[in-house]
Amino acid sequence: MRATLKQVAEATNLSVTTVSQVLNNRSCRVSKENRERILDTAKKMKYRPNQVAVGLVKGSTNTIGLVISDIRNVFFSSLAKGVEDECQRHNWNVILCNSNDRHAKDMQNLRMLVDKGVSGIILGMASESTGEMVQECIDFLENEDMPYILADRYIENRQVGIVCVDHVRGGYLAADHLLKIGHRTIACVTGPLNLYDSQQRLEGYRKALEEYGVPYNPDLIVEGKYTFESGEQGIECLFQKGYQIDAVFFFNDMMAIGAMKWLQARGIRIPEDLSVVGYDDIFVDEFLSVPLTTIRQPVEQLGCAAAKQLIERKKGDAKKDERITFAPELIERKSVIACEHP
Ligand code: RIB
Repeated sequence: MRATLKQVAEATNLSVTTVSQVLNNRSCRVSKENRERILDTAKKMKYRPNQVAVGLVKGSTNTIGLVISDIRNVFFSSLAKGVEDECQRHNWNVILCNSNDRHAKDMQNLRMLVDKGVSGIILGMASESTGEMVQECIDFLENEDMPYILADRYIENRQVGIVCVDHVRGGYLAADHLLKIGHRTIACVTGPLNLYDSQQRLEGYRKALEEYGVPYNPDLIVEGKYTFESGEQGIECLFQKGYQIDAVFFFNDMMAIGAMKWLQARGIRIPEDLSVVGYDDIFVDEFLSVPLTTIRQPVEQLGCAAAKQLIERKKGDAKKDERITFAPELIERKSVIACEHP
């Protein structure tokens, strides 16, 4: 059982105030002999400051709560790495929560983090979140006067802190890359279309089609859930439609990898029979049997930036409703080849 400050004071027969000042390196009038006695006794009794008590005294636990939506997805573990790396630089801590893509779990996590007295919260909302659900999260955090940042997923027309990627640009880069090398029948397996980031990727895809004079065919668009399984289901659905598809743009790598498994199990060659583009650039992409062409999101930088925002806000150095937008990047690998149209 860890010793308390009071127990160290009793063991040294000195006041709690004196012991606290010595153990917290605060200046105080204490003899060299007593200082050494306090330090030795605390070490022998395995005393460590109770961070909750420290937080109550200092008014800040220097801890960030991070809520992500799908801990199985490497994208979010990379986001968490960025948050944790930045917190480490400032000697802050992180409490990581997973919502399994359920809004109810988002709310449960937010309540728990507020009750734990974190100094700020980074919310990567569940993929089922509608505008109303996000507003419920925002209203709760505002009512609790809890500093927060929406990371990656957000809703428009709200003056809140946001760190995100330009997904219109990302969707455009994916489609433009395929169109530039001759693909014309390009299908999509989107993320949940209730999410703004998914709507933006589709907007970028349509913008590229328009620039090449290729008509938009909604029948080539299948809605996925950003999961491996929905990638398998999405590609199967597209093949059942009977179109002669040149390429498929998946709105994240997990779905693209699920689809690649489905295609390879049926002897459909990537890219000879079908080109495949993903989105995120999770670390496994380059090690796949057919390395995946994808759109890179600077996700660790995004995590760092979100944590930095909250830490600086705690110090009064950052505005509450700042938006930081990162640029996506096309990463060309072997899952795409040129298409010689008949
Ligand atoms: O892979 C998970 C997806 O959900 C990413 O593209 C990220 O942007 C989030 O929206």
